[in-house]
Amino acid sequence: MTPILPPFPHTRLRRLRRTQALRDLAQEHRLAVKDLIWPIFVTDVPGADVEIPSMPGVSRLTLEGAVRAAEEAATLGIPAICLFPYTDPALKTETCDAAWSPENLVNRVIRAVKARVPEVAIMTDVALDPYNINGHDGLVRDGIILNDETVTCLTNMALAQADAGADILGPSDMMDGRIGAMRSALEAKGHADVTILSYAAKYASAFYGPFRDAVGASGALKGDKKTYQMNPGNSDEAIRLVARDLAEGADMVMVKPGMPYLDVCHRVKETFGVPTYAYQVSGEYAMIAGAARNGWVNHDAVVLESLMAFRRAGCDGVLTYFAPVAARLLQG
Ligand code: PBG
Repeated sequence: MTPILPPFPHTRLRRLRRTQALRDLAQEHRLAVKDLIWPIFVTDVPGADVEIPSMPGVSRLTLEGAVRAAEEAATLGIPAICLFPYTDPALKTETCDAAWSPENLVNRVIRAVKARVPEVAIMTDVALDPYNINGHDGLVRDGIILNDETVTCLTNMALAQADAGADILGPSDMMDGRIGAMRSALEAKGHADVTILSYAAKYASAFYGPFRDAVGASGALKGDKKTYQMNPGNSDEAIRLVARDLAEGADMVMVKPGMPYLDVCHRVKETFGVPTYAYQVSGEYAMIAGAARNGWVNHDAVVLESLMAFRRAGCDGVLTYFAPVAARLLQG
């Protein structure tokens, strides 16, 4: 679309920027509290409500803390929270069995939140890394990630989360075939209405560092995730991955990380027109929160500007650790 503009002075583009009222009327994209998904970290360690050093302002929460966070989300109007478990390194195994235990921390938190704050949607993480002694999202044998065996584990994990009452399953593992396997299993086991938000275009990114501190995976990870997460040099591949996951039964898709991949967000939304989300990941959070703590950027302004960028790029919503802060700012 190339606009036809009469020449200056008939066209003066500054006219629409003269007052706040005119700027508001001419604004193309808006950011609302309803666009936010709030990721939280949960832990079984009692009284562990302490700040994660690489994520200033973010703490791991106990089950009770998670219920309070859900209540806060409900009060603020944030539609969904997303759960990530911190697992004691001593409890991690090669087989990752705890991932699909109905009594694991995440499944207990899902039940507790659903019982007390049913109106807030609960999103989960479907990947083995919190439970894996190798720190990888998939099972490892002789240094190789086992795709198909992992898909079986992930399907069991997804079913356990759906049984517990999860509304949105978030497969973040990047194995091939997992969306189709989960969708078939959900249909077969009476969970036809559980939605899947696929981490379809997830890059092998250095921006996940603080998250791995938060979930206690930093020490565990052997090697890197480049055989399953995407090469940051690719964008056509993101289109193939999104097409594949939609064809297998994903309801919504995600691009991750967010701000360094806004071009990918834009392409995905333009190409498919499906509900598209970005994950403003831990490293993005840390850069903004850390710079703001040092007085180098204006915290509130940068938070809102960074989130608006996702809307402008075409995203329907954003997973962001700033969700409660941003919700307060948006509500003035
Ligand atoms: C792992 C997972 C990761 C994140 C969400 N799920 C890290 C990884 O792939 O190593 C990162 C989120 C963030 O950095 O905020 N399944």
